[in-house]
Amino acid sequence: MLFPEYRPRRLRQNDAFRRMIRETTISADDLILPLFAISGNGVQNPIPSMPGHYQLSIDNLIKTAETAYKLGIPAVMLFGIPDKKDPLATSAYAKDGIVQKSVKSLKNKLPELAVITDVCLCQYTDHGHCGIVDGQTIDNDATLDLLARTALSHAKAGSDMVAPSDMMDGRVAEIRDILDENGMSNTPIMSYAAKYCSAFYGPFRQAADSAPKFGDRRTYQMDPANALEAVREVTMDIEEGADIIMIKPALPYLDIICRIRDEIDLPLAAYNVSGEYSMIKAAEKMGWIDGKKVMMETLTAIKRAGADMILTYFAIEAAQELRTR
Ligand code: PBG
Repeated sequence: MLFPEYRPRRLRQNDAFRRMIRETTISADDLILPLFAISGNGVQNPIPSMPGHYQLSIDNLIKTAETAYKLGIPAVMLFGIPDKKDPLATSAYAKDGIVQKSVKSLKNKLPELAVITDVCLCQYTDHGHCGIVDGQTIDNDATLDLLARTALSHAKAGSDMVAPSDMMDGRVAEIRDILDENGMSNTPIMSYAAKYCSAFYGPFRQAADSAPKFGDRRTYQMDPANALEAVREVTMDIEEGADIIMIKPALPYLDIICRIRDEIDLPLAAYNVSGEYSMIKAAEKMGWIDGKKVMMETLTAIKRAGADMILTYFAIEAAQELRTR
């Protein structure tokens, strides 16, 4: 088909045609809202680098979750900011830990909203790494047991799905085992399967107070230069029992999302991370871009690349925007 017989503009000339041929659509069903829980009452600490997001005590957490639920968002991803940190991350798997308590309250008040809990140790260790530290190195195998205990304590508190984000080798199998042994075979695992060592997590580390005190996360998170390795990571996690595969970050890794979508038949999630959010918010504040339009374009691009669901700090704003269409 060549010009002048074929004119692609014919089907772009009005909104009805454009809607008819649109290949990618977004709905609130596709969105998952990350939330940060902290102890206290009436607490709503603004996160400076993430306008519109806060560290929330349980009462306020419920209010925000309710807003999301009413907008048709099916799930939230819960992160905890504990009162105390120690080398063994004990608050991560404490029965009365911040995530465990928050899950209980959320499920009590909003039983139909799915609560996914992030399983990692970095917010809970005093050194800020995602695993047990031995000298200057992270001990993979010693960490697995603590991650499994954390996942189990989340599930026991009522978490609908656990999401390990630590990038230790073998953790999906370890978590699947402990859940199954404890009668939690119905709890799915959303695995942060290809999680890159990304500078785009900067604002999150401020939000969750989880920056490493020494070194960086390069010995466990993936090298941004690698794509084949993502395929290996994803394949491993599927074999270990993951139910949903996640790629993270999203926007700088659309090629990975696209590639993994072609390779696997499991549901695929993408994490539109904190830095991706902050950049848009900052440019919007400067008056340099139309923030709402860039938000919708970004989410559409992530979905077009192949993600079935998107974890995004834009979830509430995007769901509101979708209502007006
Ligand atoms: C914890 C974790 C991180 C994110 C999600 N879980 C930070 C990290 O690995 O340093 C980042 C999320 C974001 O930037 O929005 N391991």
